[in-house]
Amino acid sequence: MPTPPPFARWLGQTNDVTQVFLAAGQVPDLVNLAGGLPDPSVWPVEALADLSARAVREHPQEALGYPPIEGLPGLRDVIAARFSTDGLRLGRENVLITTGGMQGLELIGKVLLDEGDVIAAQTPAYLGALDAWRPRGPAYRPVRMEEAAPDLPFLMRGAKFSYTVPNFSNPSGRIVDTDRRKALVAAARETSVWLVEDDPYGALYYDGDPLPRMLTLCGGDPYDGPVIYLGTLSKELAPGLRIGWVIAAPEMIGALTTAKQGSDMCTSGLSQQVACMALEDGLCERVLPDILSLYSARRDALCAAMTEHLDELFEWEVPTGGMFVWARARGARLDTDLLMREGLSHGVCISPSSVFDPEGRDRGAVRINFTLNPPDKLAEGVRRLADASRAVLAGVAGGRLTQGRPRLG
Ligand SMILES: Cc1ncc(COP(=O)(O)O)c(C=O)c1O
Repeated sequence: MPTPPPFARWLGQTNDVTQVFLAAGQVPDLVNLAGGLPDPSVWPVEALADLSARAVREHPQEALGYPPIEGLPGLRDVIAARFSTDGLRLGRENVLITTGGMQGLELIGKVLLDEGDVIAAQTPAYLGALDAWRPRGPAYRPVRMEEAAPDLPFLMRGAKFSYTVPNFSNPSGRIVDTDRRKALVAAARETSVWLVEDDPYGALYYDGDPLPRMLTLCGGDPYDGPVIYLGTLSKELAPGLRIGWVIAAPEMIGALTTAKQGSDMCTSGLSQQVACMALEDGLCERVLPDILSLYSARRDALCAAMTEHLDELFEWEVPTGGMFVWARARGARLDTDLLMREGLSHGVCISPSSVFDPEGRDRGAVRINFTLNPPDKLAEGVRRLADASRAVLAGVAGGRLTQGRPRLG
């Protein structure tokens, strides 16, 4: 048989970390600290079962037909009303329903990026965003939120868009303060660059009051600003619904709708109808207190175990919300690509920093999730990670492990 044509070039530049950690859920006795996965116990199973049955019986056209590409009008109205404030008037024309927040990222790449275009991205950056944009061959300009005063207009000028996860960033767990949010909005206006505000963790504040969204700070009556806001029900309700949304200027919603037409045509009507009824019914507000108390206790349990077992090896800040602790190795010799591989053989899975670096170079940190596992498993995972770290250090010192990007899985 003749050799078939090769796959596209970008496939050779990617990694399979997301596949590894989703598959890790199926491996018995492996402690999965890698993904951003919710604990299934927080899903309101009975309520969602009732709403699903009602959606099909009472709204068969919406639930079982082809919905409009933009989304069900009722759901778009609910989202517009939910995010409107005194200074921000949103209508249906500002909202596109997407298949998870992930699709919003992909569609933004589809409508804005040509090969070589620049993204001014908060770095370290969300792995899924890098995955979504990789086939378009963008160039990255890192925006480091830990710096005291980054020159935002300088970093953003000439970029197609700027990308930020202001609430408990994935992977760093960092929150962007209000002054920096205002500065980002001002810089987007000054440089005429779109500002993507990706906000899956905006409800997961464990300490302190929520900070204003950049979308809200931007304001508008009607809204026509540079912020492209991405929301999702994945962390507040259930990821299996695959319901996300984009809020943006009508012109941008129009372009994204055209792009969605060639991606999946429309998001599941059944999921949209269930989401619409759940939001109208206040289901998210009812489940949130339980989510917050479960996850904040797990954050505390993870950080306590890390203090006990990892203090000599890593440094980290305790996040005030979200799903992750970002831990940086104290010594340059602890290569975290090697640690991911060594961790798998010790029965623990973590995400290495290289996959959150647009250049793939940072091999000195790990992202650790605390929402999926109960405290005893978190402690066991941390013990295994400490053992794996020592094994990597011993292997590197003795020349046992070879440097190089591991093939995962
Ligand atoms: C920063 C960020 N953006 C977007 C997403 C996409 O989530 P979903 O597609 O489940 O809505 C995630 C998921 O973990 C995320 O962490």
